[in-house]
Amino acid sequence: MKKFIIIGILAFNNLTIWADEGMWLPYLLAKNEKDMQSKGLKISAEDIYSVNQSSLKDAVVLFGSGCTGEIISEKGLLLTNHHCGFGKIQSHSSLEHDYLTNGFWAMNQSEELPNPGLTVTLLISMEEVTDKVLAGITSDMSVAQKNKKIEENMAIIIQNATQDTHYKAVIEPIYDGNQYLLYINEIFEDVRLVGAPPSNIGKFGGDTDNWMWPRHTGDFSIFRIYTDKNGKPAPFSKDNIPYKPKKHLTISLKGVTENDFTFVFGYPGSTQQFIPSYAVELIQNQSNPIAIEMRTQRLNVIKKYMNTDPLIRIQYAAKAANISNGWKKWIGENKGLQRLDVIAQKRALEAIFSQWINQNPQKKEKYGKILTNYRDIYAQMSPLTREKSYFMESFYAVEIIPFTNRFANEKNFQNKEAARAYINNFFKDYNPNIDKEIAKILFKTYLDSTDNDSYLPYKKEIDKIGIDKFVDNLYAKSIFLNQDKLLKIIDKGDMKDFQKLNSDPLMNFASPAFASYFSNAKRLEQYYQALDELGKLWIQALMEMQPQKTFYPDANLTLRVTYGHVKGYTPTDGVEYHYYTTIDGIMQKENPEIYDYVVTDRLKELYLKKDYGQYADKNGELRVAFIADNHTTGGNSGSPVLNADGHLVGINFDRCWEGTMSDIKFDSTQCRNISLDIRYCLFIIDKYAGAKHLIDEMSIN
Ligand code: ARG
Ligand code: ASP
Repeated sequence: MKKFIIIGILAFNNLTIWADEGMWLPYLLAKNEKDMQSKGLKISAEDIYSVNQSSLKDAVVLFGSGCTGEIISEKGLLLTNHHCGFGKIQSHSSLEHDYLTNGFWAMNQSEELPNPGLTVTLLISMEEVTDKVLAGITSDMSVAQKNKKIEENMAIIIQNATQDTHYKAVIEPIYDGNQYLLYINEIFEDVRLVGAPPSNIGKFGGDTDNWMWPRHTGDFSIFRIYTDKNGKPAPFSKDNIPYKPKKHLTISLKGVTENDFTFVFGYPGSTQQFIPSYAVELIQNQSNPIAIEMRTQRLNVIKKYMNTDPLIRIQYAAKAANISNGWKKWIGENKGLQRLDVIAQKRALEAIFSQWINQNPQKKEKYGKILTNYRDIYAQMSPLTREKSYFMESFYAVEIIPFTNRFANEKNFQNKEAARAYINNFFKDYNPNIDKEIAKILFKTYLDSTDNDSYLPYKKEIDKIGIDKFVDNLYAKSIFLNQDKLLKIIDKGDMKDFQKLNSDPLMNFASPAFASYFSNAKRLEQYYQALDELGKLWIQALMEMQPQKTFYPDANLTLRVTYGHVKGYTPTDGVEYHYYTTIDGIMQKENPEIYDYVVTDRLKELYLKKDYGQYADKNGELRVAFIADNHTTGGNSGSPVLNADGHLVGINFDRCWEGTMSDIKFDSTQCRNISLDIRYCLFIIDKYAGAKHLIDEMSIN
């Protein structure tokens, strides 16, 4: 054991062991510059992020609130993934104009489609403000007092940072609150849809190929940012003009070769690299399995209907993609966690840590309770987390439930305009038969899994008449299934009707579940707070224990740089994955019987003629996607993938299944980010869609 521990400490102190892992803070990139250049980068850290001159960061944006985009022309043209623009493409689609299935191309700026609610956020600058945030905090303060003071300090910092500007600022903690960073942003509100390939290109392979390699998805869509006449962000107006950015990316048609250096610049959403073994156990053995099981059931029903009805396919496309995306990720994540035995790895680190503090009474005094506290908190949280998972993934997953619950609130009832929009929006994409079938399966699971006494009357009734009949009755009797009646009630605005809604059978059925969920959530909140405090101390201790190690903060949907190399991998014994795919693979996967594998005649024609123009590689092949070991996560979708010169060679859109545990543990042999080869994207725009005017706007070399 002792020997193991010594080797362990050496390993944890070793810098090179974490090759290509890391999501680095752009404003500190000078620290990585040497390493990046030794790995192949030919430009400087200042070329990537600078507040003194225009730099690549001026061309990278947060797209909406969960994806990345990049600016590729001096007229504000923006690239992101098809799956990032999916909701917007869907919202413009109907059976008459089925842009989802057929694609959409604006042939001039007047045809570009506005998207109310969609924003694009551009980072102006970032800096550390820890001292200012923690000014006036003393050790004798309670947690509540500390938090209050921190909030006050933050408000002042933000106020000072944005005074007399149109910028918006936020302060985000990193390292669980050991440091705070101030971000100053410019937020654009007029973002229009310019182009999207048909689903059988943009979503080729659908949920079957999702998270997998080899991949052939043309996962991109194009938008444009508009501003007012002065170049400032403004809500949609006909008079707005295309945004003139400080910087737009240069596109390279040179492609990538194995072992080439690449970096990804974008907005990774969330990772949990520091969590203790107890947390991994909870995720691996409880939250993930419950969510996977519940979603399997839900997806089976939705898919059955989607395959038979084109309207349902449109209505449920985005919902199904969402449900399936998490479902499949967690399956992959669990496999990866098990394969690496991350729990054992974490325990080994914790053993080293215990050894380290036991050698020094002061450290023991300061950090000695961390692990036992973690153990106790996670033990207490376990049943509450289970309850929460069941609620979220079974009860709340029945669509009519959150819909109904919205009207438990008087304000939501009284705000007529919002209520009307909410109701119409809900019914546009709602199929009661699907929902009922899901409810029959999931209500039963939920009621069986909860200890909540308030359900006893229902349990008795369900035992008597059976869950199917019970659900049929509930849906037949409830007013929440009747769009017209609901709209009339909202228009009338009579509080008596509000009372009636609140004694509706569905509302009656939902209320106890929500009540129990909220009391559960309140208890969990206390544990989350305790974990926040503990996490802060834990990271501080880890940093002290491994002074040689270069740390990077967990992803938190702020701008990061990650870098690595183009590389294939070996997913299982005897199988080797090549680092790129080509259009030939699309033809091999073609299946006219399956929606996700349909290939249009137009694409086939181009393929047969090998009409790839300047987008072919030097062997005349048209490449579709490639993989590299850049450390990415959800939110990095749409991120620019740049080569050693800082030129755009790809659009990041996914990770390989075997590496999806990278949010908890990165493994450079298995973790690969999947990128669309920019040449395939331009080929589709140019040759397939005939939108040459867009190509002419770009800077290509
Ligand atoms: N897995 C990718 C990501 O996490 C793509 C998801 C969209 N595609 C899909 N078939 N559901 O976002
Ligand atoms: N597909 C993810 C996204 O949408 C990327 C990933 O998880 O690797 O951000």
